[in-house]
Amino acid sequence: MLETFDLISSVIAVDVFEEWSLPAFAMPLKQTLRPAYQQVLNAEAWLRGHFGLYQAEATLSRDAQTFWNAPDPRVQQYSHWRGSGIFADERRWRALGAEHLRLFDEFAAVVGVSREPNRIIEWGCGGGANAVQFARRAQEYIGVEISADSLSECARQLEAEGYRNFTPVLIDASDPEQALQRLSPPCELFLSTYVFELVPTPEYGYRVLRIASEVLADGGMAIIQVKYRTDSWRTMPRRFGYRRNFTAMTTYPIHEFWTEAMRLGFEPKAVRLVPRQPLNGNGDYAYFILRKGGFKEER
Ligand SMILES: C[S@@+](CC[C@H](N)C(=O)[O-])C[C@H]1O[C@@H](n2cnc3c(N)ncnc32)[C@H](O)[C@@H]1O
Repeated sequence: MLETFDLISSVIAVDVFEEWSLPAFAMPLKQTLRPAYQQVLNAEAWLRGHFGLYQAEATLSRDAQTFWNAPDPRVQQYSHWRGSGIFADERRWRALGAEHLRLFDEFAAVVGVSREPNRIIEWGCGGGANAVQFARRAQEYIGVEISADSLSECARQLEAEGYRNFTPVLIDASDPEQALQRLSPPCELFLSTYVFELVPTPEYGYRVLRIASEVLADGGMAIIQVKYRTDSWRTMPRRFGYRRNFTAMTTYPIHEFWTEAMRLGFEPKAVRLVPRQPLNGNGDYAYFILRKGGFKEER
Protein backbone atom coordinates (compact mmCIF):
# COMPACT_ATOMS: atom_id res chain seq x y z
CA MET A 1 0.00 0.00 0.00
CA LEU A 2 2.83 2.35 0.89
CA GLU A 3 4.47 1.75 -2.49
CA THR A 4 1.19 2.62 -4.23
CA PHE A 5 0.97 5.80 -2.21
CA ASP A 6 4.55 6.74 -3.00
CA LEU A 7 3.84 6.21 -6.69
CA ILE A 8 0.67 8.36 -6.65
CA SER A 9 2.52 10.89 -4.58
CA SER A 10 5.36 11.17 -7.06
CA VAL A 11 2.80 11.76 -9.83
CA ILE A 12 0.86 14.50 -8.05
CA ALA A 13 4.12 16.02 -6.88
CA VAL A 14 5.21 16.74 -10.44
CA ASP A 15 6.34 20.30 -10.22
CA VAL A 16 3.71 21.84 -12.47
CA PHE A 17 2.57 24.09 -9.65
CA GLU A 18 5.96 25.38 -8.75
CA GLU A 19 6.97 28.75 -10.07
CA TRP A 20 9.83 27.87 -12.39
CA SER A 21 8.24 25.00 -14.24
CA LEU A 22 5.51 26.70 -16.27
CA PRO A 23 5.76 29.18 -19.12
CA ALA A 24 4.12 32.56 -18.51
CA PHE A 25 1.09 31.89 -20.75
CA ALA A 26 0.10 28.93 -18.53
CA MET A 27 0.09 30.97 -15.32
CA PRO A 28 -3.64 31.88 -15.32
CA LEU A 29 -4.54 28.19 -15.72
CA LYS A 30 -2.22 27.36 -12.88
CA GLN A 31 -3.88 29.95 -10.64
CA THR A 32 -7.31 28.51 -11.46
CA LEU A 33 -6.29 24.96 -10.68
CA ARG A 34 -4.21 25.73 -7.61
CA PRO A 35 -7.05 25.41 -5.01
CA ALA A 36 -8.05 21.99 -6.38
CA TYR A 37 -4.41 20.88 -6.39
CA GLN A 38 -4.09 22.06 -2.79
CA GLN A 39 -7.10 19.92 -1.86
CA VAL A 40 -5.41 16.87 -3.36
CA LEU A 41 -2.24 17.59 -1.39
CA ASN A 42 -4.27 18.06 1.81
CA ALA A 43 -6.11 14.79 1.21
CA GLU A 44 -2.80 13.00 0.78
CA ALA A 45 -1.40 14.53 3.98
CA TRP A 46 -4.57 13.57 5.90
CA LEU A 47 -4.48 9.98 4.69
CA ARG A 48 -0.78 9.52 5.28
CA GLY A 49 -0.98 11.10 8.75
CA HIS A 50 -3.97 9.05 9.89
CA PHE A 51 -2.80 5.73 8.45
CA GLY A 52 0.92 6.19 9.16
CA LEU A 53 1.86 5.96 5.48
CA TYR A 54 5.25 7.54 6.03
CA GLN A 55 8.43 7.38 4.02
CA ALA A 56 11.42 5.69 5.62
CA GLU A 57 13.76 7.91 7.60
CA ALA A 58 16.66 6.89 5.35
CA THR A 59 14.75 8.11 2.28
CA LEU A 60 13.86 11.40 3.95
CA SER A 61 17.46 11.92 5.12
CA ARG A 62 18.75 11.35 1.61
CA ASP A 63 16.15 13.76 0.19
CA ALA A 64 17.02 16.36 2.83
CA GLN A 65 20.70 16.08 1.93
CA THR A 66 19.88 16.65 -1.76
CA PHE A 67 17.42 19.46 -1.05
CA TRP A 68 19.69 21.59 1.16
CA ASN A 69 22.59 21.20 -1.27
CA ALA A 70 20.66 22.05 -4.45
CA PRO A 71 22.10 24.89 -6.53
CA ASP A 72 18.82 26.78 -6.35
CA PRO A 73 18.57 30.41 -5.16
CA ARG A 74 15.41 29.56 -3.22
CA VAL A 75 17.41 27.18 -1.04
CA GLN A 76 19.61 30.15 -0.13
CA GLN A 77 16.54 32.03 1.06
CA TYR A 78 15.29 28.97 2.97
CA SER A 79 18.77 28.75 4.55
CA HIS A 80 18.47 32.39 5.67
CA TRP A 81 21.27 33.79 3.53
CA ARG A 82 21.74 37.51 3.78
CA GLY A 83 20.44 39.28 0.67
CA SER A 84 18.53 36.26 -0.64
CA GLY A 85 14.79 36.42 -1.40
CA ILE A 86 12.92 37.93 1.56
CA PHE A 87 16.31 38.51 3.21
CA ALA A 88 17.15 41.12 0.59
CA ASP A 89 15.57 43.20 3.33
CA GLU A 90 18.63 43.66 5.53
CA ARG A 91 16.54 44.61 8.56
CA ARG A 92 14.59 41.36 8.38
CA TRP A 93 17.78 39.28 8.24
CA ARG A 94 19.36 41.15 11.15
CA ALA A 95 16.13 40.99 13.16
CA LEU A 96 16.05 37.19 12.96
CA GLY A 97 19.32 36.69 14.82
CA ALA A 98 18.88 39.75 17.02
CA GLU A 99 15.59 38.36 18.30
CA HIS A 100 17.29 35.08 19.20
CA LEU A 101 20.07 36.90 21.02
CA ARG A 102 17.44 38.84 22.98
CA LEU A 103 15.74 35.56 23.88
CA PHE A 104 19.07 34.13 25.01
CA ASP A 105 19.67 37.09 27.34
CA GLU A 106 16.17 36.85 28.71
CA PHE A 107 16.38 33.09 29.22
CA ALA A 108 19.87 33.27 30.75
CA ALA A 109 18.46 35.64 33.38
CA VAL A 110 15.50 33.30 33.98
CA VAL A 111 17.68 30.23 34.52
CA GLY A 112 20.34 32.10 36.49
CA VAL A 113 23.23 31.96 34.01
CA SER A 114 25.36 35.07 34.24
CA ARG A 115 28.59 33.97 32.59
CA GLU A 116 29.02 34.30 28.84
CA PRO A 117 29.49 30.96 27.06
CA ASN A 118 33.04 30.04 26.00
CA ARG A 119 31.83 27.85 23.20
CA ILE A 120 28.57 27.98 21.32
CA ILE A 121 27.31 25.30 18.96
CA GLU A 122 24.64 26.15 16.45
CA TRP A 123 22.99 23.14 14.84
CA GLY A 124 22.01 24.14 11.28
CA CYS A 125 23.63 27.58 11.18
CA GLY A 126 22.51 28.33 7.60
CA GLY A 127 23.73 31.69 6.28
CA GLY A 128 24.76 33.00 9.69
CA ALA A 129 21.82 35.16 10.82
CA ASN A 130 22.33 33.89 14.39
CA ALA A 131 26.09 33.59 14.10
CA VAL A 132 26.72 37.28 13.39
CA GLN A 133 24.76 38.17 16.54
CA PHE A 134 26.12 35.53 18.91
CA ALA A 135 29.78 35.23 17.80
CA ARG A 136 30.94 38.18 19.88
CA ARG A 137 29.67 36.47 23.02
CA ALA A 138 31.95 33.41 22.74
CA GLN A 139 35.55 32.45 22.15
CA GLU A 140 34.49 29.82 19.64
CA TYR A 141 31.35 29.62 17.51
CA ILE A 142 30.76 26.20 16.00
CA GLY A 143 28.32 25.78 13.12
CA VAL A 144 27.07 22.29 12.28
CA GLU A 145 25.55 21.90 8.82
CA ILE A 146 24.61 19.41 6.14
CA SER A 147 25.35 22.05 3.48
CA ALA A 148 28.95 23.02 2.71
CA ASP A 149 27.71 26.13 0.89
CA SER A 150 25.83 27.35 3.95
CA LEU A 151 28.89 26.78 6.13
CA SER A 152 30.98 28.85 3.70
CA GLU A 153 28.33 31.57 3.61
CA CYS A 154 28.17 31.64 7.42
CA ALA A 155 31.99 31.91 7.57
CA ARG A 156 31.90 34.70 4.96
CA GLN A 157 29.35 36.72 6.93
CA LEU A 158 31.30 36.30 10.16
CA GLU A 159 34.56 37.35 8.50
CA ALA A 160 32.86 40.38 6.99
CA GLU A 161 31.93 41.42 10.54
CA GLY A 162 35.47 40.86 11.78
CA TYR A 163 35.04 37.53 13.61
CA ARG A 164 37.73 34.87 13.36
CA ASN A 165 36.32 32.40 15.85
CA PHE A 166 34.18 30.21 13.57
CA THR A 167 34.59 26.44 13.37
CA PRO A 168 32.57 24.78 10.58
CA VAL A 169 31.45 21.18 11.02
CA LEU A 170 30.02 19.47 7.95
CA ILE A 171 27.95 16.32 8.46
CA ASP A 172 25.79 14.13 6.27
CA ALA A 173 22.08 14.27 7.03
CA SER A 174 21.97 10.49 7.38
CA ASP A 175 24.45 10.48 10.27
CA PRO A 176 24.06 13.39 12.71
CA GLU A 177 26.21 11.57 15.31
CA GLN A 178 29.18 12.20 12.98
CA ALA A 179 29.29 15.61 14.60
CA LEU A 180 30.33 14.07 17.92
CA GLN A 181 33.65 12.97 16.42
CA ARG A 182 34.41 16.55 15.40
CA LEU A 183 33.14 18.37 18.47
CA SER A 184 35.14 18.42 21.63
CA PRO A 185 32.91 19.07 24.59
CA PRO A 186 32.24 20.97 26.71
CA CYS A 187 30.17 23.74 25.22
CA GLU A 188 28.08 26.14 27.23
CA LEU A 189 25.34 26.94 24.70
CA PHE A 190 23.62 24.74 22.13
CA LEU A 191 21.43 26.74 19.78
CA SER A 192 19.11 25.52 17.06
CA THR A 193 16.45 27.63 15.39
CA TYR A 194 14.29 26.79 12.37
CA VAL A 195 15.92 23.37 12.04
CA PHE A 196 14.10 20.81 14.20
CA GLU A 197 11.02 21.04 11.96
CA LEU A 198 13.18 20.24 8.91
CA VAL A 199 14.72 17.03 10.18
CA PRO A 200 13.30 13.80 8.72
CA THR A 201 11.40 12.49 11.76
CA PRO A 202 10.75 13.30 15.44
CA GLU A 203 13.02 10.36 16.36
CA TYR A 204 15.83 12.05 14.42
CA GLY A 205 15.14 15.28 16.30
CA TYR A 206 15.58 13.41 19.59
CA ARG A 207 18.91 12.04 18.34
CA VAL A 208 20.05 15.63 17.85
CA LEU A 209 18.75 16.45 21.34
CA ARG A 210 20.88 13.60 22.70
CA ILE A 211 23.90 15.03 20.87
CA ALA A 212 23.16 18.40 22.50
CA SER A 213 23.15 16.74 25.88
CA GLU A 214 26.46 15.00 25.15
CA VAL A 215 28.31 18.13 24.02
CA LEU A 216 27.06 20.48 26.71
CA ALA A 217 28.91 21.07 29.95
CA ASP A 218 26.99 20.54 33.18
CA GLY A 219 24.90 23.66 33.65
CA GLY A 220 25.13 24.45 29.92
CA MET A 221 22.05 25.81 28.22
CA ALA A 222 20.19 24.67 25.11
CA ILE A 223 17.78 26.88 23.22
CA ILE A 224 15.89 24.77 20.73
CA GLN A 225 13.04 25.93 18.59
CA VAL A 226 10.61 23.31 17.33
CA LYS A 227 7.25 23.32 15.61
CA TYR A 228 4.65 22.07 18.05
CA ARG A 229 1.71 19.80 17.41
CA THR A 230 -1.74 21.06 18.19
CA ASP A 231 -4.95 19.01 18.08
CA SER A 232 -5.39 19.83 14.38
CA TRP A 233 -4.32 17.05 11.99
CA ARG A 234 -2.64 19.73 9.90
CA THR A 235 0.13 19.96 12.47
CA MET A 236 0.98 16.24 12.34
CA PRO A 237 4.53 15.55 11.14
CA ARG A 238 4.45 15.07 7.37
CA ARG A 239 7.22 12.45 7.11
CA PHE A 240 6.87 12.22 3.34
CA GLY A 241 7.61 14.27 0.22
CA TYR A 242 10.60 16.17 1.68
CA ARG A 243 10.85 18.76 -1.07
CA ARG A 244 7.19 19.75 -0.82
CA ASN A 245 6.75 19.42 2.90
CA PHE A 246 10.10 20.32 4.43
CA THR A 247 8.75 23.17 6.58
CA ALA A 248 6.43 20.80 8.45
CA MET A 249 8.38 17.57 8.10
CA THR A 250 8.59 17.09 11.84
CA THR A 251 6.49 18.45 14.71
CA TYR A 252 6.50 17.57 18.40
CA PRO A 253 3.87 17.51 21.13
CA ILE A 254 5.12 20.01 23.71
CA HIS A 255 4.83 17.62 26.67
CA GLU A 256 6.64 14.88 24.73
CA PHE A 257 9.61 17.11 23.85
CA TRP A 258 9.76 18.26 27.46
CA THR A 259 9.83 14.74 28.93
CA GLU A 260 12.23 13.46 26.26
CA ALA A 261 14.60 16.30 27.19
CA MET A 262 14.41 15.17 30.84
CA ARG A 263 15.15 11.58 29.83
CA LEU A 264 18.24 12.81 27.97
CA GLY A 265 19.67 14.59 31.01
CA PHE A 266 18.23 18.07 30.71
CA GLU A 267 16.27 20.10 33.18
CA PRO A 268 13.67 21.88 31.06
CA LYS A 269 13.30 25.38 32.45
CA ALA A 270 10.72 27.05 30.29
CA VAL A 271 8.99 26.99 26.94
CA ARG A 272 7.87 30.01 24.98
CA LEU A 273 5.21 29.66 22.32
CA VAL A 274 5.14 31.77 19.18
CA PRO A 275 1.88 30.90 17.38
CA ARG A 276 2.65 33.43 14.63
CA GLN A 277 6.10 34.67 13.60
CA PRO A 278 5.83 37.83 11.46
CA LEU A 279 9.48 37.62 10.31
CA ASN A 280 8.73 34.57 8.17
CA GLY A 281 4.92 34.42 8.16
CA ASN A 282 5.02 30.97 9.74
CA GLY A 283 3.99 29.74 13.16
CA ASP A 284 3.36 27.09 15.81
CA TYR A 285 6.87 27.58 17.14
CA ALA A 286 8.01 26.61 20.63
CA TYR A 287 11.34 27.67 22.10
CA PHE A 288 12.54 25.24 24.74
CA ILE A 289 15.02 26.45 27.32
CA LEU A 290 16.85 23.47 28.72
CA ARG A 291 19.65 23.24 31.20
CA LYS A 292 22.01 20.29 31.29
CA GLY A 293 21.59 18.52 34.62
CA GLY A 294 24.04 18.05 37.50
CA PHE A 295 24.82 21.73 37.99
CA LYS A 296 24.84 24.15 40.87
CA GLU A 297 22.75 27.31 40.66
CA GLU A 298 24.90 30.40 40.25
CA ARG A 299 22.76 32.51 42.51
C1 LIG B 1 15.87 27.57 7.88
S1 LIG B 1 17.63 27.46 7.91
C2 LIG B 1 17.96 28.06 9.56
C3 LIG B 1 19.29 28.77 9.67
C4 LIG B 1 19.59 29.34 11.05
N1 LIG B 1 19.47 28.35 12.09
C5 LIG B 1 18.67 30.50 11.36
O1 LIG B 1 17.83 30.41 12.27
O2 LIG B 1 18.81 31.52 10.68
C6 LIG B 1 17.84 25.70 8.09
C7 LIG B 1 19.29 25.22 7.96
O3 LIG B 1 19.36 23.91 8.54
C8 LIG B 1 20.22 23.10 7.75
N2 LIG B 1 19.81 21.71 8.00
C9 LIG B 1 18.76 21.03 7.49
N3 LIG B 1 18.72 19.78 7.99
C10 LIG B 1 19.78 19.67 8.86
C11 LIG B 1 20.26 18.63 9.71
N4 LIG B 1 19.67 17.43 9.73
N5 LIG B 1 21.35 18.88 10.47
C12 LIG B 1 21.98 20.09 10.42
N6 LIG B 1 21.55 21.11 9.64
C13 LIG B 1 20.46 20.91 8.87
C14 LIG B 1 19.98 23.58 6.33
O4 LIG B 1 21.06 23.27 5.48
C15 LIG B 1 19.77 25.09 6.53
O5 LIG B 1 20.98 25.78 6.37
